[in-house]
Amino acid sequence: MALGRVEIRYGSVSHLPFSDGMFNLVTAVETHFWWPNLPGDMREVFRVLKPGGTLILIAEIYKGANTIAAKLAEKYASRTAMTLLSVDEHRELFTNAGFSDLQVIEERRKRMDLWHRQKTDSQLLIDEQIANLREQLAEHAKSIG
Ligand SMILES: C[S@@+](CC[C@H](N)C(=O)[O-])C[C@H]1O[C@@H](n2cnc3c(N)ncnc32)[C@H](O)[C@@H]1O
Repeated sequence: MALGRVEIRYGSVSHLPFSDGMFNLVTAVETHFWWPNLPGDMREVFRVLKPGGTLILIAEIYKGANTIAAKLAEKYASRTAMTLLSVDEHRELFTNAGFSDLQVIEERRKRMDLWHRQKTDSQLLIDEQIANLREQLAEHAKSIG
């Protein structure tokens, strides 16, 4: 931020303050279950991604997840207004918004523990995506001198 390489903008996912096709990568971490209009909001995310861009969405809580937090969230969903979708419903949501090449990593732990030390599959996926983007950016920087 101090170097002026990061810009922080405030806005709603329903009306992202960005033009079409701006981003290589969008992340949504523990947030989409609060979005007010999930199908439309997901299309809005798709709109700001470049063709071939990547969305990484992480949710500890979803319908059918084997954690205490998810089970409590499901139980009280009518009070919290959270939209909890199953894995299959997520696939449908992404496909309907325009996404393809979906990769869903569902973590099934033996114990219903919330905290774990090792990197999860989704964290490893993010590491890999970020490494790829870094390489692409480095090549782009080289090509423009
Ligand atoms: C549980 S926090 C997660 C924050 C952060 N991604 C993280 O992992 O620490 C949920 C976030 O969703 C954001 N959020 C909820 N509704 C939103 C909306 N309609 N548009 C954009 N962000 C929203 C909230 O502002 C909040 O920051």
